[in-house]
Amino acid sequence: MRLHVADHPLIAHKLTVLRDVRTPSPIFRQLTEELVTLLAYEATRDIRTESVEIDTPVAHAMGTALAEPRPIVVPILRAGLGMLEGMTRLLPTAEVGFLGLQRNEETLEAITYANRLPDDLTGRQCFVIDPMLATGGTLVASIEYLFERGARDVICVTLLAAPEGLRTVQDAIGDRADVTIVTAAVDDHLNEKGYIIPGLGDAGDRLYG
Ligand code: PRP
Repeated sequence: MRLHVADHPLIAHKLTVLRDVRTPSPIFRQLTEELVTLLAYEATRDIRTESVEIDTPVAHAMGTALAEPRPIVVPILRAGLGMLEGMTRLLPTAEVGFLGLQRNEETLEAITYANRLPDDLTGRQCFVIDPMLATGGTLVASIEYLFERGARDVICVTLLAAPEGLRTVQDAIGDRADVTIVTAAVDDHLNEKGYIIPGLGDAGDRLYG
């Protein structure tokens, strides 16, 4: 597993406003979209491309196109939906699959309630989007669903990650596939309720509550 912390002053600034308890839902949603667009720029650095020939108004030239098969973006419902618009703005031709998982707030176990992924993901680059990587249980379960369908190239985009969750994902994935996590920040720790500290609270509630 590779970890990329997107260290950019604009990302740090927007994340700070996102963390602030006084930031209301409409601003939270707008900032989430803006942050995702910036993170998507980093997350797509290794997106597969191919050379194409084109004619400009004045010359013949070689250019770059996204390679087939087209990538797939997978938001983890519900909070991941808040990141979808920002991601598809940069990848308008991507297919979108959906996974719905909810963490049991007592056991912290991730329960799956929706799975709408294409049957065959062999050879597809998969971009998983979810604002929070806390214990890592949700992300490990999501990556396993992608592996079951043949995906081996998975890029996860999160706003925040906890060190505990990153270790869990690393241990679960091992060397089975190419998994990259792109995040705006790695926070300090998880508290006894499984919340990221300092964090930004419950992303789903702040987006849609
Ligand atoms: C949050 C978050 C992740 C998950 C992270 O979702 O959006 O999906 O928890 O926790 P984990 O790393 O400990 O598994 P939540 O379960 O609150 O559902 P929601 O998106 O519907 O609010």
